[in-house]
Amino acid sequence: MSNVYKLSPRQADYDIHPLFTSRWSPRSFSDKQVDDDALFSLFEAARWAPSANNSQPWRFIYARNGSTGWSNLLGLANLNNQRWAASASVLIALVSKTTHLRNGDSEPSALRNHSLDAGAAWANLALQATHAGLITHAIGGFDREQAKVVLDIPEGFHIEILIAVGYQGDRAELPEDFQLREQPTPRKPLAGFYAEGRFNFSE
Ligand SMILES: Cc1cc2nc3c(=O)[nH]c(=O)nc-3n(C[C@H](O)[C@H](O)[C@H](O)COP(=O)(O)O)c2cc1C
Repeated sequence: MSNVYKLSPRQADYDIHPLFTSRWSPRSFSDKQVDDDALFSLFEAARWAPSANNSQPWRFIYARNGSTGWSNLLGLANLNNQRWAASASVLIALVSKTTHLRNGDSEPSALRNHSLDAGAAWANLALQATHAGLITHAIGGFDREQAKVVLDIPEGFHIEILIAVGYQGDRAELPEDFQLREQPTPRKPLAGFYAEGRFNFSE
């Protein structure tokens, strides 16, 4: 088991694989670049996510730091996100296909669960990254309209999130406001998330 698992201060109430509590979203990236094998193993993990009708609607558009596509992807993030994401090794846009041609149909039908399925793929990707000693950080704060233009995203695809990927760097190199937030977050109590038989939640 990788040492990274032992560093997490997060405690689960029930026995789960330490990968789940070890994954978190740092903003400090080191200079070390993610090589092809490491990057494609993330897409490989995502590939095995479950999806409605096995439609596999996730698509990943990536750019490496310094490549021609890099500024296109980074420039989509809002300015506060750009302040830390600029040091990532790879940026990925996760896009989902919103329609699906079912067996025997001539017209595509809507894929109701495209975002849910893309979310499952993102979770697989993030957990695989943790397992491999990489860090990931999802970015929802970005310009979706601009993304369609600069990434050439056609009709029938929905842009979900950007994902920053790399190796963890030194917290001290982050701007001070981010340094204060650079730690694994806790979670609400487990009992607030489940109910037997019917909806029974206060929020
Ligand atoms: C869909 C999504 C959008 C997010 N957008 C941002 C973002 O724009 N900027 C940011 O710094 N973090 C963003 N995050 C990271 C979350 O704030 C973070 O996952 C959450 O606080 C839980 O912390 P953890 O991932 O460290 O466990 C996003 C996460 C998700 C899943």
